[in-house]
Amino acid sequence: MKVDVLLGLQWGDEGKGKVVDVLTPHYDVVARFQGGPNAGHTLEFEGKKYVLRSIPSGIFQHGQVNIIGNGVVLDPVLFRDEAESLMQSGVDLKHVLKISRKAHLIMPTHRLLDAAYEKLKGDAKIGTTGKGIGPTYTDKVSRNGLRVGDIFCNFDEKYSIAKKRHVNLLEALGETVDIAEAEAKWLDAIEYLKQYDIIDSEFVVNKYIDEDKKILCEGAQGSMLDVDFGSYPFVTSSNTVCAGACAGLGVAPGKIGEVYGIFKAYCTRVGSGPFPTELHDETGARIRDIGHEYGAVTGRERRCGWIDLVALRYTIMLNGVTQLIMMKSDVLDGFPVVKVCNSYRVNGVETRDFPYDIEHGIEPVYTEMEGWNMDMTGITSPEQFPEQFKAYISYLEQELNVPITIISVGPDRKQTIDLRNNR
Ligand code: GDP
Ligand code: IMO
Ligand code: MG
Repeated sequence: MKVDVLLGLQWGDEGKGKVVDVLTPHYDVVARFQGGPNAGHTLEFEGKKYVLRSIPSGIFQHGQVNIIGNGVVLDPVLFRDEAESLMQSGVDLKHVLKISRKAHLIMPTHRLLDAAYEKLKGDAKIGTTGKGIGPTYTDKVSRNGLRVGDIFCNFDEKYSIAKKRHVNLLEALGETVDIAEAEAKWLDAIEYLKQYDIIDSEFVVNKYIDEDKKILCEGAQGSMLDVDFGSYPFVTSSNTVCAGACAGLGVAPGKIGEVYGIFKAYCTRVGSGPFPTELHDETGARIRDIGHEYGAVTGRERRCGWIDLVALRYTIMLNGVTQLIMMKSDVLDGFPVVKVCNSYRVNGVETRDFPYDIEHGIEPVYTEMEGWNMDMTGITSPEQFPEQFKAYISYLEQELNVPITIISVGPDRKQTIDLRNNR
């Protein structure tokens, strides 16, 4: 059985957590392949809301195995907080969760380095989540990292070498380092981690594939934050595109099946960096208000704008998307006109191709569509969609050349319309 991948096509926060939860009953295994607690994946059902950061979004269904893959970076303290709060809610986490031995550990000093590098950049700062993501992946690539598997073998020595190196770096950057309290908590959380099923996840995942088990890989962030293809340097430090699922779980490229590309009916971004269709006006503020566009974890205001098909065509290409999932359609319910950016004017020349530099000289060219002016949050089948909304979907499908198969009209699990059996 091939492995399916679900990932964000914009700048993150597309609604991945909700859809993974909705799709989980069709799968045996859900696996995260990159990112770490910079993610905040929100799920809502039965009047309750949960935000997941490092733990996959498949833990609320019916006993599916959930895996934190080797491509993930794990902060033991945040992991413990997340795990304990889930167990208090009745989730039988210890029986369903497995963690790769090869996942890298975020240390307290990684967070200090994240903050110090941001401070150094001044106005050019990335606007990171401050969770130590960049420095942890930097240590991984420069072959200095600590992995989950290390906690069982000579850990004290490995930890103190890594810490010393970080402290030297921080002091060279003019920082005073006082981590005694954070360190004690972190070392305690390392002990806590030992109770979990720490595995060679690449073997386990491939065994499941051979046994014809159905696996869903859950992406974090979005393709426009990919370290290679995103709006560099305003990106995260991992490969958020589909190839990241191969490297982050040990799945061969030929084993990838469906690629679900998820996007909002409009567009948002949190943190610094270019955003061609950003609205700095009343309309942008209205989208933010109606869509509750504030970070799931940090509470930071998300920047809002119209949908950008130039960027979407680019990320659909990079990921080999086979099905599109459109989220937050209901947020546009009351807008008399909905705009779609289908091309950019770059220094006066119109193009549909995504340019190297999206920061300078870019003017989005919009197609205006009639709004639907109807509350869609209670819709349960596609026949109930207003004609103007149907026209919006058809236009996007025609321009993106991939079918939209699932539409979300509200944050709850139930507010999801699957078009696959309905068309
Ligand atoms: P993720 O990081 O991709 O999982 O997305 P987030 O959880 O960070 O952000 C998505 C937000 O939109 C969450 O607050 C969800 O509860 C909410 N949401 C998801 N789908 C819909 C939808 O169709 N309509 C509305 N109004 N909210 C939604
Ligand atoms: P989910 O999985 C939205 C952004 C940060 C910053 C940049 C780098 O919930 O979609 P980092 O801490 O990764 O070094 O920050 O990436 N960012 C996200 N934006 N959703 C996310 O995750 C994000 N994770 C990181 O705001 O601009
Ligand atoms: Mg999020």
